Amino acid sequence: MTLPTLELSDKDFNRLAQFINGYSGIRMPASKRAMVEGRLRRRLVRHGFNDFTSYCQYLFEGGGMADEAVHIIDAVTTNKTEFFREPDHFRFLADVVLPELLRGRDAPSLKLWSAACSVGAEPYSLAMLLAEQMRQSGRDIRCSILATDLCIEVLEKAIAGIYSEEMVRPIPLELRQRYVLRSRDPEARLVRITPDLRRLVRFLRLNLMDDHYGVDQGFHVIFCRNVLIYFSRADQERVLARLAEHLAPGGYLFLGHSETIAGLNLPLRPVGPTIFAKA
Ligand SMILES: C[S@@+](CC[C@H](N)C(=O)[O-])C[C@H]1O[C@@H](n2cnc3c(N)ncnc32)[C@H](O)[C@@H]1O
Repeated sequence: MTLPTLELSDKDFNRLAQFINGYSGIRMPASKRAMVEGRLRRRLVRHGFNDFTSYCQYLFEGGGMADEAVHIIDAVTTNKTEFFREPDHFRFLADVVLPELLRGRDAPSLKLWSAACSVGAEPYSLAMLLAEQMRQSGRDIRCSILATDLCIEVLEKAIAGIYSEEMVRPIPLELRQRYVLRSRDPEARLVRITPDLRRLVRFLRLNLMDDHYGVDQGFHVIFCRNVLIYFSRADQERVLARLAEHLAPGGYLFLGHSETIAGLNLPLRPVGPTIFAKA
């Protein structure tokens, strides 16, 4: 399909940028204009519009936004992720957090949340780590992993748990052999997370900008990595305060390596590289 080479006017870009920022928290400075233009062109074609102005009129004056918002957000989010991304976080979890949470508890139950999970690499990495903990210790740990994202497309991929062979390469070989199934068709070069591991993870659409998350509190571990970097400082502080409310006392929050809470007024203290414990 050939897409039209349409241009987005200042006025239309500003309206879209304001909407995207208000809805998702993602900042849309002028430098993102070409990205927005490129990614939304398909939506125009889909609706049969010949220019961005008619599309924006449909969205903002014609009531089209009610149905189109989800697609706009899906188009503009950045979903880059990897299995065991920022591996020192997983080491800290295995060496420090899990032993501490499990110590002296007969029937331990653990609640983890991957709060911007993209296509699922992060929550499935957490699931592998917990499954290994159970296998090696021989203990029956009741564990639940909640995985949420704003983008529906990535959630659908995450639920399917199907990845390219290349994508699962960062998973240590032993874990890959145990928790990843090869496709019956070797040409497909696709793999799938095992059903037992997939069952440990519950996926939901959740907008971190919402006032109420509608999920349980008392999480022992929350991963919210590489998403707040796109938000304004004020939105970061609001989201982090809400996430802290969802942590159990002494629970751990993991942020992305380029994210910081310095200067923010939060009940969190640093305990490792972009790792915080609820005070
Ligand atoms: C760069 S990915 C990070 C994925 C994973 N946490 C990691 O570090 O590999 C950022 C994710 O945040 C999601 N996202 C963006 N804004 C969001 C919001 N307001 N609420 C929830 N998720 C959001 C995007 O859809 C995207 O999947």
